Amino acid sequence: MTKLAIMGAMEEEIEPLLAHFKDVNVVEYADNKYYEVNYNGLEIVIAYSKIGKVFASLTAATMIEKFGCDVLLFSGVAGGINPSLKIGDLIIADKLCQHDLDITAFGHPHGYVPGGNVFVETSKELREAAKRVADKNGLKVLEGTIATGDQFIHSNERKEFIENTFKADALEMEGASVAVVCNALNVPCFVLRAISDTADMDAGFDFDEFLKSSAVESANYLVKIVDEIK
Ligand code: ADE
Repeated sequence: MTKLAIMGAMEEEIEPLLAHFKDVNVVEYADNKYYEVNYNGLEIVIAYSKIGKVFASLTAATMIEKFGCDVLLFSGVAGGINPSLKIGDLIIADKLCQHDLDITAFGHPHGYVPGGNVFVETSKELREAAKRVADKNGLKVLEGTIATGDQFIHSNERKEFIENTFKADALEMEGASVAVVCNALNVPCFVLRAISDTADMDAGFDFDEFLKSSAVESANYLVKIVDEIK
């Protein structure tokens, strides 16, 4: 029997998810809140990690190791890189990388440390389920590469570095770390994002403007995916 983890990074990203479920039980653990719900017999644990790779890794590992979740879905917002991605558009990650992981001084490629890989893949099965849902609902979804780092990107220079180095389609601050944790613990992982900005000099303004509406786009699609896989 599956126990599902649903993660966001910010409160705004999980609020619209929690709104879909009733009778939420709150468990406080490791300086965070975990929201347990029963959705037509399916056990789900929902949490927002706080921003960045360290908090996201802690939350993902906690949901798996303490709460016993065996599938993890992430929902939230991202900065768009691929010019086809407009604000509010959806992207699912087929693979993710850490754009700020840098030991190039020792001749290694960007995003690589010994024992790891530049790219970590997500669950093909979950992506296929998500694409079926998109087809059924007439949703346009891009499947592509997401680059993660502990930086809010708001310059064309850094955005172009990430685009050129990793051929990334979008960027955010948690996905790759969650995927690394899931991969190490053999838990199928799915990362969904809706675009809140395009990581350029207007990104700070756009993010504030569109965080909520894009988070809702992502959450609404994610709930449909839960219905598909349960
Ligand atoms: N999440 C949404 N927009 C972002 C940006 N521009 N940089 C990093 N993470 C983001």
